[in-house]
Amino acid sequence: MDVDRCAFDVLQLNTPLVESIRETIRAQGPQSFAWFMQQALYHPEHGYYSSGRCVIGRKGDYFTNVSVGPLFGQLLASQFSEIWERLGKTNDFVIVEQGAHDGQFARDVLEFVQKRLPEFFDALRYRIVDPFPILKKQQRRMLEAFADKVEWRESEEPFTGVHFSNELLDAMPVRLISDGKEKLVDLEGDKIVFVERPADKTMFNQAALKFIDQIAANLQDGYVVAIDYGFLDEQFEKNAHVRALHRNLDSPFEQIGDADITMSVDWRSIVERAEANGLRITGFTDQHHFLTGIISGFGRGASTEPPEDDWGQSSLPGSPKAKRELQTLLHPEMLGRAFHVLALAKNVDLGARPLAGFKFARGANSALRITR
Ligand SMILES: C[S@@+](CC[C@H](N)C(=O)[O-])C[C@H]1O[C@@H](n2cnc3c(N)ncnc32)[C@H](O)[C@@H]1O
Repeated sequence: MDVDRCAFDVLQLNTPLVESIRETIRAQGPQSFAWFMQQALYHPEHGYYSSGRCVIGRKGDYFTNVSVGPLFGQLLASQFSEIWERLGKTNDFVIVEQGAHDGQFARDVLEFVQKRLPEFFDALRYRIVDPFPILKKQQRRMLEAFADKVEWRESEEPFTGVHFSNELLDAMPVRLISDGKEKLVDLEGDKIVFVERPADKTMFNQAALKFIDQIAANLQDGYVVAIDYGFLDEQFEKNAHVRALHRNLDSPFEQIGDADITMSVDWRSIVERAEANGLRITGFTDQHHFLTGIISGFGRGASTEPPEDDWGQSSLPGSPKAKRELQTLLHPEMLGRAFHVLALAKNVDLGARPLAGFKFARGANSALRITR
């Protein structure tokens, strides 16, 4: 990362957020990158997410699976329905979503389930865990039609069902630690710069590991499904990605508070923490194989049927729009290969079959020693 360039860019910025970052560093000395990321993304007033400035999709800063269109939510809804069946069609089933942003995914899921899976719809509640008031307001507006189905919480609470997240782990603050050194955020005059110090033995992704601890403590019976981009083992590179207006920026010190900062997920540390907390690893694959597995279950004895309007009785969608969405989600050079899906389970009879999304999972599955 080019420190001189970072320093130059921040000279242009005198926003209240940058001022408050400078004040803390002046008073307390160099800060971890995790602290900086927390300020840039989640400062209570000025953070990129917590201020409501982040816009996802064509007119915003970047695309996600959710912003591609409703198909993603429809396919996941079908996977959630299978999970509900595996839990004995309990009428105390909660879909917990964290990182729900404006509530679009929740709406895609609920609209599909209401229309296609009425028995499941009656049995479920949808819980959004979100600490940011401005996002909750956007979610309430988006989910007006489902006001009596959706509930909000500030933090995790006990639940039976499925915990879902898409691109949440990559948005959690990380420290920049490698080869026994840590990059800290410091000042040279008014310039924000990196300095290096010997690192202590702390894991770089403490926030993500704590998140796994919390889910493990609160999941009574059911699954966790996390979708994100990241790496296994030696492929892993600790690079922060900075994006604004569909452009990759060179440095996290550009457009502080107006740009997204993410870190690829280190899946190995996540699964090790999950296992240490009593969760079973039940599936790990790329998004291409995951969604293909779900689609292949349609109309072949699986409980979910394809959405008739778009898909007819075929196992693939019919309308040009849905076909484009499917291609974007599945294509290896679009979102199909970059994203991974991890499933964890607790107190579930895993039976002989994997969940539909993991029936084509192979290489990565065995890399994590998953047997089913
Ligand atoms: C990259 S966006 C993904 C949004 C959405 N899931 C999607 O796929 O379009 C990350 C989201 O995670 C949220 N987030 C980050 N940390 C969170 C936390 N601890 N609890 C709930 N949401 C969080 C952010 O506010 C932001 O809306």
